[in-house]
Amino acid sequence: MSSTVITNIATLVTNDPSLGGTSPLGPVRDAAVVIDGDRIAWTGESSKAPATDNRVDAGGRAVLPGFVDSHSHLVFAGDRTEEFNARMSGRPYSAGGIRTTVAATRAAGDAELEANLTRFLTEALRQGTTTFETKSGYGLTVEDEARALRVAAAHTEEVTYLGAHIVAPEYADDPAAYVALVTGEMLDACAPYARWIDVFCEKGAFDGDQARAILTAGKARGLHPRVHANQLSHGPGVQLAVELDAASADHCTHLTDADVDALAQGSTVATLLPGAEFSTRAAWPDARRLLDAGVTVALSTDCNPGSSFTSSVPFCVALAVRDMGMTPDEAVWSATAGGAAALRRTDIGRLVPGARADLVLLDAPSHVHLAYRPGVPLVAGVWRGGVRVV
Ligand code: NIG
Ligand code: FE
Repeated sequence: MSSTVITNIATLVTNDPSLGGTSPLGPVRDAAVVIDGDRIAWTGESSKAPATDNRVDAGGRAVLPGFVDSHSHLVFAGDRTEEFNARMSGRPYSAGGIRTTVAATRAAGDAELEANLTRFLTEALRQGTTTFETKSGYGLTVEDEARALRVAAAHTEEVTYLGAHIVAPEYADDPAAYVALVTGEMLDACAPYARWIDVFCEKGAFDGDQARAILTAGKARGLHPRVHANQLSHGPGVQLAVELDAASADHCTHLTDADVDALAQGSTVATLLPGAEFSTRAAWPDARRLLDAGVTVALSTDCNPGSSFTSSVPFCVALAVRDMGMTPDEAVWSATAGGAAALRRTDIGRLVPGARADLVLLDAPSHVHLAYRPGVPLVAGVWRGGVRVV
């Protein structure tokens, strides 16, 4: 098994709380990290680093855990440039545009979906994402949902069945029949490819009772829930997520005190997706309020062709710091350890002995530059499972 030491790291973000200090990032200055095979073997001060086969000089730059993008929608065809243009001329976002992508996705061949997904993954990897979750939700037939999940499952373990994105157009007059399909034949076809089940719980998509029925049916098939909750308006999604012990309630843009309390008392992570507010010109979710209440917060891209067409976690970190009341340390924690928590993973999102060797080398002396230098491509190197891929 080959081993590599990265030395001369100005700031090493470990997310190891046992290192103490005031930051959740457990930063180590003048640090080194040793990779053995696909795992982290050692972290500490550069001067104490053990000898290894290979040596990489970080040149006084920062190293942090690879980003964990715990919310994306990457299996689709077409784009929605026109819709975005119209929105930037003042038209509001409604999730109705999902139908445009459903039509394009159904019409696409497998090779086109595969090529699109690969393109977005390559894009994300160059920006430091080493783990990503992705969803179906642009097929909305038994065959098209199963196909999307099959394509996704070839690239990640974190696959989410979102047959309940909107009611399929064919069922517009009979949503109950669509819910029966999503919890019946479609679930049977999709469950073998997925780890998670998700519902868009929102006016115009699925209400609280429908969402509960769908998530409960998924749970009975061994899928664990996550919820698109309280994105466009206040609704029952967040409280339902906590009630069903969902791993994550995603968006969390419109919250009451009771929602914040429920999140603080449960083990559901609040995943904030500032790319969506950016690209729909909506009010920002209040990260500060959640953090001050003790809620675990994750930050992810929501990359999709409608509401948030960015694959860049660094961009989301910058938005969260500028507009959502997060400190740079909090935002970086949320985009790494927070994303891991939203996927209920302990092997990623931190650089501690035994964790997966997923690391990002920045062209900057500290992780703070991710927010301080917005829009600048700072990712200079990426290791995934101990292998340098960028
Ligand atoms: O997370 N909210 C629902 N789904 C996506 C948007 C999908 C789309 O507009 O195509 C989201 O923002
Ligand atoms: Fe989403």
